[in-house]
Amino acid sequence: MKKNNIYQIATFVLGVALIILAFTKTSSDKKAMETSKKEAVIENIHNRKSVRKYVADRPVSKDDLLTLVKAGMAAPSSKNGQPWAFVAISERRTLDRLADGLIYAKMLRAAPSAIVVCGRTDKDASGKIWPQDCSAAAQNVLLAAEAMGLGAVWTAAYPYEDRVAAVVEALELPPHIIPLCVIPVGYPNGTETPKDKWKEENLKWEKWGE
Ligand SMILES: Cc1cc2nc3c(=O)[nH]c(=O)nc-3n(C[C@H](O)[C@H](O)[C@H](O)COP(=O)(O)O)c2cc1C
Repeated sequence: MKKNNIYQIATFVLGVALIILAFTKTSSDKKAMETSKKEAVIENIHNRKSVRKYVADRPVSKDDLLTLVKAGMAAPSSKNGQPWAFVAISERRTLDRLADGLIYAKMLRAAPSAIVVCGRTDKDASGKIWPQDCSAAAQNVLLAAEAMGLGAVWTAAYPYEDRVAAVVEALELPPHIIPLCVIPVGYPNGTETPKDKWKEENLKWEKWGE
């Protein structure tokens, strides 16, 4: 065999080996990325906690509020009806008015912002499903806040008539908009920690009796 041919074969073999190596590396990089994404998402779910104490004088940016609302709007909803509306608030006067009307949301006095998740009865043909849809949206907001290093807590409006009325009045909501919850948002002061809620007795496999 000529020397030239040996070189050609060697170059070809080397080329093929390099392609295989690059392919293997790309797929193992992809797998590693998927694993770390999975771990990050699960960890975020377990780290979420109700945060009622915030760093003083540290506002939440409008961009961050927008990111939270976008996470809310990414939630699943019955027949993809999206029967929701969000009110993002950073004005001190409005936050204080809400705190006045909601006995279990006094932390609004110290929170720099809040997001109110509302149901839209005009977008809910059944008139019954908006609380579930909006609850999914509210949970998305809470999870996004955790992932962004923010602290948030669900404080109830619906189904308590007096609390709904207080929010309707403070935000001048029209009749087809019903507030489900007010979510105060701020930077956590670091004192609150997640609770471990795993209880084996709350899981049944296949059927109740087994
Ligand atoms: C439907 C609902 C209503 C809630 N209402 C209030 C409320 O009015 N005020 C409050 O401080 N927390 C409220 N929470 C927060 C719960 O107290 C909190 O989620 C619960 O204690 C578990 O703690 P964790 O969120 O840190 O896991 C509410 C949560 C849900 C889901």
